[in-house]
Amino acid sequence: MNALHLSDGEFRALAARITDLSAGLLAGLEGARAFPDTSAARTAQAFSAPLPEEGLKAAALDALGDVLAHSRAPTPRFYGYVLGSGEPVAALADLLASVLNQNVTAWRSAPAAVTIERQLVHSLAAALGCPGFTGSLCGGGSLANLMGLAMAREARLPANEHGARAGVVYASSEVHLSIAKSMGLLGLGRKNLRLLEADRHFQLEPARLAQAIRADRAAGRTPLAVVASAGTIATGSIDPLAAIAALCRAEGLWLHVDGAYGALAALAEPQEFAGLSEADSLSLDAHKWLYQPLDCSLLLFRDAALARRTFSFTPDYVKPLASDSDEAFAFFDESLELSRRFRALKLWLSLRYHGLAAFRDAIRSDLAHAQRLARAVAAGGELELLAPVRLSAVVFRFRHAARADAVNAAILRRLIERGRVYLSNATVAGQFALRACFVNHRTTDADVDAIVPEVLAAAREVLTS
Ligand SMILES: Cc1ncc(COP(=O)(O)O)c(C=O)c1O
Repeated sequence: MNALHLSDGEFRALAARITDLSAGLLAGLEGARAFPDTSAARTAQAFSAPLPEEGLKAAALDALGDVLAHSRAPTPRFYGYVLGSGEPVAALADLLASVLNQNVTAWRSAPAAVTIERQLVHSLAAALGCPGFTGSLCGGGSLANLMGLAMAREARLPANEHGARAGVVYASSEVHLSIAKSMGLLGLGRKNLRLLEADRHFQLEPARLAQAIRADRAAGRTPLAVVASAGTIATGSIDPLAAIAALCRAEGLWLHVDGAYGALAALAEPQEFAGLSEADSLSLDAHKWLYQPLDCSLLLFRDAALARRTFSFTPDYVKPLASDSDEAFAFFDESLELSRRFRALKLWLSLRYHGLAAFRDAIRSDLAHAQRLARAVAAGGELELLAPVRLSAVVFRFRHAARADAVNAAILRRLIERGRVYLSNATVAGQFALRACFVNHRTTDADVDAIVPEVLAAAREVLTS
């Protein structure tokens, strides 16, 4: 018997414990702290036991209690960053995906997984109003953005064979940090990312964009692509996609839409995203606004042949042997990834279980929660909104004439320590902002109503300490 063998009985007993732990966690979410009462020293201490030479068997699971105690639970009152709280049907699917352990490289390696992922990608694209797009799942919006820009580079300034040449990419000053990272990694140069100052709605202005393109051409540089945001990280603003797409077409530039945070809301409010289908590539994060457990992102594009030109490099040991085009299909010809987990299973099962209508409703409820918080912020005199609420991000702060940035940073620290509500921060027009982002299917109206009193309670503690 192999030393790693697990009997049927052992597996069932372990699975029952894990299921129990998971169910207990879910059942206790309502009253759970939004951030655990811990510190770096205490977490280090909790997990300081050396790895055993001899296995602990079932007692190994005893440490999972500590894992939960020192983790941030996916509570209804978590509004930090852009993070869903993990839909449980999808979580169960993740267990099965790991047991099945498909390597979703190519149909010949994972027939059901590849077929489900391809169909899922096409169905989601159609549901978003982008029929005909294809693509693949990947580990994060950052990777999807990198791959989208790699395609842009290969389309306009091919670099795979002889190396990269400088090409200029345009975006608003509100664009996500992954775009600058991608510029560096792709050899395009971070200095060739033109971050154009956003307008007062935190959007990229087409006229300013046109002017910047003209100026670069006049200076002998090569404009390459525009990255438009469909939901900026700080304020959730949406760039004017249709006007930017028209400009890109006229100028021969690639249009990548970073929809990692916001574009899945097109399932519920398509009119907000007019022009989305004009993108050449589009990144989406199902682990954000489709409530999936991490990780589950998606890059969509229209031109599969170009994706293959960008990503395909196929030595004999991975060459498909089939003549049927679907059986010869390989994701690694159209993606950076080779070994890939069966991410589609969770999303597919969760969508099948609840139905698309339930997801549209959940997104609408997040949008309504953002408006509800904005009204509560505006209602009293002590807080002020720092940006219009276009999607589900609300940025605001406690008014303080002398030291607003420092006081609000202290309020945020105190708020997190109090543990009832979790917000994160953003810089909005140079100011430190408290930020609540609603992509949480567990949040109720009552949870939203708890935010302002908690912020004010934290403010009082800061100001009297
Ligand atoms: C607009 C935007 N783009 C890209 C990303 C990066 O996504 P990920 O964290 O999945 O890599 C984020 C993350 O918050 C985002 O909000």
